[in-house]
Amino acid sequence: MNKELIIEETVAYVKSELVGTESGHDWWHIYRVWKNAQLIASGEIADGFVIELGALLHDIADAKFHNGDEEIGPRKAESFLKGMGVDEAVIEHVKNIIRFISFKNGDQRHLFNSKELEIVQDADRLDAIGAIGVARAFNYGGFKNRTIYDPFIKPNLSMTKEEYKKSEAPTINHFYEKLLLLKDKMNTETGKKLAQKRHEYLENFLDQFFDEWEGKS
Ligand code: ADP
Ligand code: NI
Repeated sequence: MNKELIIEETVAYVKSELVGTESGHDWWHIYRVWKNAQLIASGEIADGFVIELGALLHDIADAKFHNGDEEIGPRKAESFLKGMGVDEAVIEHVKNIIRFISFKNGDQRHLFNSKELEIVQDADRLDAIGAIGVARAFNYGGFKNRTIYDPFIKPNLSMTKEEYKKSEAPTINHFYEKLLLLKDKMNTETGKKLAQKRHEYLENFLDQFFDEWEGKS
């Protein structure tokens, strides 16, 4: 099967697998990461086929399993790609992208790294900032029944991952605790440039938000 057809089949597979998932990780998140990854790849030297497969399959494990068995995603991707007759080396690479993109601290990165992983991770991070990032954050906050902002609850930059998950802080705090930090975590030069633009968008959004909060604009 040629590469183009494999990508087409992967799109169909991912769409069908993600039916009914929450909107933070639905097909349209995958679609945007796939497009972002192609945009970043156009400025880098890397294997476009691995990047597209990695982007399309990076959240293939059902979101509710995400915090448990980290091997579900790689396993699902493997059996799907094997069925398509994809090269063993490509399959291994895609599995590693799925595994290592989810180590949020980057503390496992010495175990595996590649340009292709860096690009897909940048593409995933871009989807958390800019206009889409604002939309996703408030969607998440609404889903969790969070307030949008509370001037008396300050952002906390020193929470552990577990504390962070349990925190019921207003959605605006998430911008300071996570979203505004992403531009400095980008791996690739192209990713950094795109992130800078989206970062400025977040800053403008926040300026306008606080002005409107106090009736200054
Ligand atoms: P990822 O899958 O990229 O690791 P998450 O599952 O942590 O991201 O988040 C998915 C989306 O929900 C992102 O856009 C993120 O900004 C948003 N989100 C996650 N946690 C919060 C939070 N506490 N408040 C607001 N938005 C959040
Ligand atoms: Ni993702």
